[in-house]
Amino acid sequence: MAGSRVTLWLATGNRHKLEEARAALEPLGVAVEPLEAEKLEIQSESLEEIALFAARIAYASNPRPAVAVEDAGLFVKALNGFPGPYSSYTYKTLGVEGLLKLLEGVEDRRACFRSAVALVGPGYEKVFTGEACGFIAESPKGSQGFGFDPVFIPEGEERSFAEMSLEEKNRYSHRAKALRAAAEWLIERAEGLRGGAARRV
Ligand code: IMP
Repeated sequence: MAGSRVTLWLATGNRHKLEEARAALEPLGVAVEPLEAEKLEIQSESLEEIALFAARIAYASNPRPAVAVEDAGLFVKALNGFPGPYSSYTYKTLGVEGLLKLLEGVEDRRACFRSAVALVGPGYEKVFTGEACGFIAESPKGSQGFGFDPVFIPEGEERSFAEMSLEEKNRYSHRAKALRAAAEWLIERAEGLRGGAARRV
């Protein structure tokens, strides 16, 4: 809607996350700006807790009307949800090849990416989640994206995330779903605040 521009400040050092967020939210009329923030991550099994802790710190060190931190993980069914909240460390230490090794000979290759987006602003804290389920491929395919994208095939597709454009990945992506929910909440809030201001005039 014209005049309803809302901005979300995303604290991330990952340029792919920023690009994905822009591609997902600009069509909704929500601008995404990067935010410099101290990088502190707690250890927790909850993506929501990890994202909220980091968003509180980002907001405290660099307050804006809507500060967001996103935390994601890949949950592999045959590994009882591993690497889950430890996905970043697993990616750094074992990489895509290491994950494929763990799944050698495993037939049930179901897995889900999950994302938590924590939004912190003046007087509010909210957490939104999104999920994308599919399968771990037998070998890496594609060169787009980041992390485990080359081995994740969303349900209903034959291509991996790394074989898709940003817009295509965002049709399925856990992050796009969580970010869109956050953006919709922000838009409603902005409309409510404007309505309240208009009523007070
Ligand atoms: P983070 O802690 O949110 O940065 O994500 C943890 C790890 O999960 C990343 O290092 C990636 O390896 C993996 N990951 C999260 N989201 C995605 C995605 O959309 N595609 C591929 N890998 C992802």
